[in-house]
Amino acid sequence: MPWLALVEMLQREFIVSEIERLKKEKSMIVLAHYYQDKSVQDVADYIGDSLGLSIEAQRTNAKAIVFAGVHFMAETAKILNLRCKVLLPDMAAGCSLSDACPPDSFREFILMHPDHVVVSYINCSAEIKAESDIICTSANAEKVIRSIPIDEPIIFAPDKNLGNYLIQKTGRKMLLWDGACVVHEAFSIDKILVLHQQHPQAKIIAHPESEPHLLRVAHFVGSTTALINFVKKDSCNQFIVATEAGILHEMAKEVPGKLLIPAPAKEDNTCACSECGFMKLTTVEKVYNCMLNEYPEIEIEESLRVRALRPILQMVEITKN
Ligand code: 13P
Ligand code: SF4
Repeated sequence: MPWLALVEMLQREFIVSEIERLKKEKSMIVLAHYYQDKSVQDVADYIGDSLGLSIEAQRTNAKAIVFAGVHFMAETAKILNLRCKVLLPDMAAGCSLSDACPPDSFREFILMHPDHVVVSYINCSAEIKAESDIICTSANAEKVIRSIPIDEPIIFAPDKNLGNYLIQKTGRKMLLWDGACVVHEAFSIDKILVLHQQHPQAKIIAHPESEPHLLRVAHFVGSTTALINFVKKDSCNQFIVATEAGILHEMAKEVPGKLLIPAPAKEDNTCACSECGFMKLTTVEKVYNCMLNEYPEIEIEESLRVRALRPILQMVEITKN
């Protein structure tokens, strides 16, 4: 092994052992989303989708959560668990969906459509949550929409693709905010169909943030956790996976014998797959530094936190039934 690679390997091993030491000494847990780099997923105590991560954040007894994900996820953890310190290794880890919904414009939109039930996808800021009646994730969005009385009109924000998918599934009329995920909009339907011709046995599976033409050809649509469970349970041995490529790490561990093909993006990139630049800002080094320094920390003004908590608890209630 070249000496530089050896030094890097030893440094990495040292950092990983320090992370484990700090977890015990400081009573910290690392929560990671499936889109994190595999090296980050490998130091996590829990890996999950937005719903699973929120539940885990709410119920932990740890003194601090290190959130290996993006800002809205860490912010949701803080809204749900006031007692716990919530650390985000890189404060620049945002989300194009959250960015697409500025609070002032959203408030104006709601005022223009009074009497609508406001359902917001969890990929939004605390300010947007505070303006909403119910929050949903990709795992429970259909259930949330179906829980709303049929005669009540609905505003759905900020993801128009998930919104359109829910309109198809439930037949409900909804006013959609015009937001989208840059990663899921980058998939090339033409390349996916060519790939499917080359692998006719493969099933196409997609996250509901993807565009309608892709969701129409998908054999299964679901949250990241639902996609992993599908490849585990389904008898098929080949899948074209249309979501962020980080998920392949956990999927490959769960179904080592199955062929997992990342769906190609419109623009060619080095790995021929789609990666979320926000998610990939987190590194093992940043996780370590934020555990050591207990910084950067998520802070939310208390009255905002309380207003943002109400629609999240509403979601939890609906999901339980
Ligand atoms: P999941 O809740 O399905 O993991 O989705 C989160 C996300 O940001 C997808 O882009
Ligand atoms: Fe946001 Fe899309 Fe990245 Fe998920 S994959 S965090 S929706 S930009």
